[in-house]
Amino acid sequence: MDKLRIEGQHPLRGVVQASGAKNAALPAMAAALLTAEPVELRNVPQLMDVRTLRRLLGSLGAAVEQDGDTVRIDAREIGNVEASYDLVKTMRASVLVLGPLLARFGQARVSLPGGCAIGARPVDQHIKGLQALGADITVEQGYIVARTATSSGRLRGARIATDMVTVTGTENLMMAATLAEGETWIDNAAREPEVVDLARLLRAMGARISGDGTSQIRVVGVERLHGARHRVIPDRIEVGTFLCAALATRGDVTVTGADPGHQDALLDKLSEAGAQIETAADRIRLRADALAGGRPRAVSVRTTEYPGFATDMQAQFMAVNCIADGTARITETIFENRFMHVQELVRLGARIDIDGHSCIVQGMPRLSGASVMATDLRASAGLVVAGLAAEGTTLIDRIYHLDRGYDAIEVKLRGLGADIARVTGKGD
Ligand code: UD1
Repeated sequence: MDKLRIEGQHPLRGVVQASGAKNAALPAMAAALLTAEPVELRNVPQLMDVRTLRRLLGSLGAAVEQDGDTVRIDAREIGNVEASYDLVKTMRASVLVLGPLLARFGQARVSLPGGCAIGARPVDQHIKGLQALGADITVEQGYIVARTATSSGRLRGARIATDMVTVTGTENLMMAATLAEGETWIDNAAREPEVVDLARLLRAMGARISGDGTSQIRVVGVERLHGARHRVIPDRIEVGTFLCAALATRGDVTVTGADPGHQDALLDKLSEAGAQIETAADRIRLRADALAGGRPRAVSVRTTEYPGFATDMQAQFMAVNCIADGTARITETIFENRFMHVQELVRLGARIDIDGHSCIVQGMPRLSGASVMATDLRASAGLVVAGLAAEGTTLIDRIYHLDRGYDAIEVKLRGLGADIARVTGKGD
């Protein structure tokens, strides 16, 4: 099993290019199922979750080609409407094919995602919303079995209010509603930039959607959608990870191909920690090479839905706090059980106490390298940030978690001067 070996305490310096957003690319690829014409997506990151969804679309009968960061999907011939457990269990976002399959073909069978390292993560809101749109849904042998139950065979518009803000839930319902008869309102919708990006693609395909980016989305159904070309937005979590790594190593890093407009909450917190931030239209520079006192200041955060502080940045920002001056409280409100990186950070010498949904992080002057284990995607990114800041060698095991969501992270970090290498292990 591959590991990452990091020799820490090299300040990161230089320029790094952001990849396209994983969480925008995945729904965009699923949206291609809504039309019989080709959809071309550019700026698609090359990472495991994208490969998993390519395989899933292929298993349904779609023709999928990838050339660098361009993916072309032709879903003219779909011979199968089942997303198997084997594919869904490795990536929960596979559930994004449910809405499009049901809307276009009137039926879908999608495996329930099953257990997940960061809490229960049910899909009840996806199901409830699709039922409101006229689907008949049962769970059989671990599969969500959905059929359109209307006389016309099409879903029908409805007013849907989700019980909590759900990103992929909003995306699934928005996609399903594009081909429904009549008007759909999604109340309590997620406002994430990735939802807005999906709406932009769907509009390019002929959908009638407004209100995306607010908590109330309106979709007026159309009979069919057509092909489109679309450029996926930058990955704000990858960008944020590089910025945290730059701060933790007291570096000077410019991330290009970024959208600073998507990063307000994080940039505020990084500034509060003492970093100097400069932004231009498509880039963000973080300077931390002249921090007062030589260390970042401890900064408390509370994760919330966009535009608040992203739960996907919680572990990386905690890693910065581990070496900060002072004590911070990190509160997680989106997912239960999303502190699995804590015990690994403690192995690096961090001082952290868990108090319910919060962690109290007492900043230490230094961390020291150790062997640690990645437990989920963003937890792994937090360990990378900590390892880059720590003295000596950190060995991160189970980095397949990291490979799910980061496009060549060790190559990009090496370009910034990090001493980081992938160690390919056999059977260990
Ligand atoms: C998406 C992101 C993920 C990010 C998360 C929160 C993708 C592919 N993944 O995940 O990186 O961490 O948003 O920003 O975009 N919930 C329910 N029932 C549902 C749906 C959600 O109870 O039917 C709960 C979840 O358990 C969680 C909360 O709602 O506690 C938010 O989850 P959600 O926004 O749905 O996360 P994802 O869309 O899976």
